[in-house]
Amino acid sequence: MERLQKVMAHAGVASRRSSEKLITSGHVKVNGKTVTELGVKVGKHDRVTVDEMPIQTEMPIYILMNKPRQVVSTVSDDKHRKTVIDLLDDEIKERVYPVGRLDYDTTGLLLLTNDGELANQLTHPKYEVDKTYVAKVQGIPTNEELKNLRQGVSLDGKKTSPARSKVLSSDDKRKTAIVSLTIHEGKNHQVKKMLQAVGHPVMKLKRETYAFLTLKGVQPGEFRELNPEEVKELKRVAQLDK
Ligand code: URA
Repeated sequence: MERLQKVMAHAGVASRRSSEKLITSGHVKVNGKTVTELGVKVGKHDRVTVDEMPIQTEMPIYILMNKPRQVVSTVSDDKHRKTVIDLLDDEIKERVYPVGRLDYDTTGLLLLTNDGELANQLTHPKYEVDKTYVAKVQGIPTNEELKNLRQGVSLDGKKTSPARSKVLSSDDKRKTAIVSLTIHEGKNHQVKKMLQAVGHPVMKLKRETYAFLTLKGVQPGEFRELNPEEVKELKRVAQLDK
């Protein structure tokens, strides 16, 4: 059982504080009865509505997936391509969705959850957490180009926030390099666009870390649930651990 405002926040209705206001101002019903006092606890079998709209009361679940190539990171796809949800087995009964996106051809670490509050916070520009990508690129970036990436490049008229970047290895014969780039923003196709902007189109892209989380022990196409310590730490990183 969890406090009503916490369940509402998890369901993505509003922040905890705004959920409290919704409760005290009479917008919320539990099992058909209006609740205006704070402190009521609800479980997954209770029916909670906000302005008559039902909300999800199932327990929060947090999944770390190693997304393979040629899978979309959405819940459904109008082109009938395989989705990350198709990769979850029947053990996961909760309705989870991805935290942010990875492109169809990008592999690596993707979080999935039904905790709307944490997902919103993790993807909010203010709290965006560090994510490290490893890219195979055409050409070998020079020190000057790496410096440009670090200082921020102009994308669609806006400068990206400072990033960390280094060349991990290079192939002089094929004229390709493996580059690591750590960013905390989450603009569409950001890594590909940043590397393209300094003259190095991306051939392959993988997200290796998300905050303190890594892909250790999780093969492409596999997933695992986060343990309670990891969830706590993730909430701390997202500044939700109050
Ligand atoms: N940046 C990209 O360009 N693509 C991704 O999938 C993630 C970050």
